[in-house]
Amino acid sequence: MYKIPLSDQGDAIPTFRMKICCIGAGYVGGPTMAMIAHKCVDHTVTVVDINQARIDAWNSDKLPVFEPGLDEIVSGARGKNLFFSTDVDTAIREAEIIFLSVNTPTKTYGVGAGRAADLRYIEKCARKIAEVAEDDKIVVEKSTLPVRTAESVKRILESNSNGRQFQILSNPEFLAEGTAMEDLEAPDRVLIGGDQTPEGKAAIQKLVDVYATWVPRERVITTNLWSSELSKLTANAFLAQRISSINAISALCEATEANVDEVAHAIGTDSRIGPKFLKASVGFGGSCFQKDILNLVYLCEHFGLPEVAAYWNSVIAMNDYQKHRFSHRVISAMFNTVSDKKIAVLGFAFKKDTNDTRESAAIYICKDLLEEQANLAIYDPKVEVAQIQRDLGIDADNEYVSYCQDPYEATKGAHAILILTEWDEFKTLDFQKIYEQMQLPAFLFDGRNLLDLEALREIGFEASGIGKG
Ligand code: UDX
Ligand code: ADP
Repeated sequence: MYKIPLSDQGDAIPTFRMKICCIGAGYVGGPTMAMIAHKCVDHTVTVVDINQARIDAWNSDKLPVFEPGLDEIVSGARGKNLFFSTDVDTAIREAEIIFLSVNTPTKTYGVGAGRAADLRYIEKCARKIAEVAEDDKIVVEKSTLPVRTAESVKRILESNSNGRQFQILSNPEFLAEGTAMEDLEAPDRVLIGGDQTPEGKAAIQKLVDVYATWVPRERVITTNLWSSELSKLTANAFLAQRISSINAISALCEATEANVDEVAHAIGTDSRIGPKFLKASVGFGGSCFQKDILNLVYLCEHFGLPEVAAYWNSVIAMNDYQKHRFSHRVISAMFNTVSDKKIAVLGFAFKKDTNDTRESAAIYICKDLLEEQANLAIYDPKVEVAQIQRDLGIDADNEYVSYCQDPYEATKGAHAILILTEWDEFKTLDFQKIYEQMQLPAFLFDGRNLLDLEALREIGFEASGIGKG
């Protein structure tokens, strides 16, 4: 039997076999469990989901999540020590460690609507574990959750414990989509929070041992539960704040002769500031930043800290401003009307190298332009057409929106091009050829500062970027 080491010193090499289960086969659960299975060949990892289509996709050649490097890792481990299934009960019953990786969207109803996290999926999982578990379990929060969610999970489990011991750990995910496999393979840190009791520390150690298989021990940080939960929200709030800060400056650059890329470079070389996350853009998106900040804001209000809430809320307000500012700039440059004009939208995902569109700036910009009766020709290399239709809330036969197989089709006869996602392939397009098939003046709005504006202007484009006069 596995002996519980109470010390958290040294690089523990696990020599034990364990069954691990993960509830939720989404953008976080799938890649994370694939990496654990890949690295910990002695353990068996089963990822379960109530969504049969998603599980079928994980068991097929076309995975439901696009992530560079994921296909190889999944196909190497699947069927050996990595399994995808809808049999949630069996996976829970057999596992020693159960990860919760279900979605925690912003609540759309009732108290805290628009800000608080909707915890109904987490609660359902906790109740399911309480119902089917036959022995002690370690339950790990992987989804981003409001601070003190572990307490709710614990209370549900403990009030139905029937003599079983449940340890709750918080192990927030810091992977970024598009680089998930790199981030999982070589994380800056792994954070594990748990009760500071002997049983809690033993549970922490068990999870430390899983990660220590491939992550240097000094990169595995252990804390109490609440610090771990709050650290996740704080990390995302700080990252988003950097983007909103540079985006705020981009507006000032456009009003002056400054260039935001130059400003970002100049300040980023100050080692106290650092160069990362200073890329001015059309606005941040993704499933985490906005949701987590809203959550932080809600928490602050709950704890009677309105000034702190207002401070963090301004990061979101600036992001909303940035998205609409871009749409207004497009409309105003195009003689104050885009009605009946064809606009090529290049990129719909919230960033490159993912098929995820949650909170993508493209959604807001397309909606703004549709309200102005523009005709949109959308191209994204990875996002499914049905997803775009869901995001824009339109039917398949909407006459204002068409979906293109490539950027050349999208830009044919267009009045303007909008770069909304920084896909690498957009850098090497034949812009001369594109220019020749566009209406004149040919506008190009680079929402990602991806392209060489000078070169585009030489071709003849009326080209502008973010934060450049
Ligand atoms: C983020 C965090 O980085 C990750 O640690 C956390 O676990 C989940 O949330 P993710 O949302 O996948 O990850 O992507 P990220 O790379 O952080 O980008 C978020 C958004 O910010 C994207 O829309 C991106 O285009 C934008 N962004 C990022 C900028 O506009 N400028 C930048 O400098 C960086
Ligand atoms: P994330 O980006 O956090 O991974 P996703 O929405 O991509 O979020 O994935 C969450 C997954 O959790 C979905 O596939 C959803 O079907 C699944 N899920 C939600 N509730 C449950 C539940 N009670 N049992 C099993 N799976 C669930």
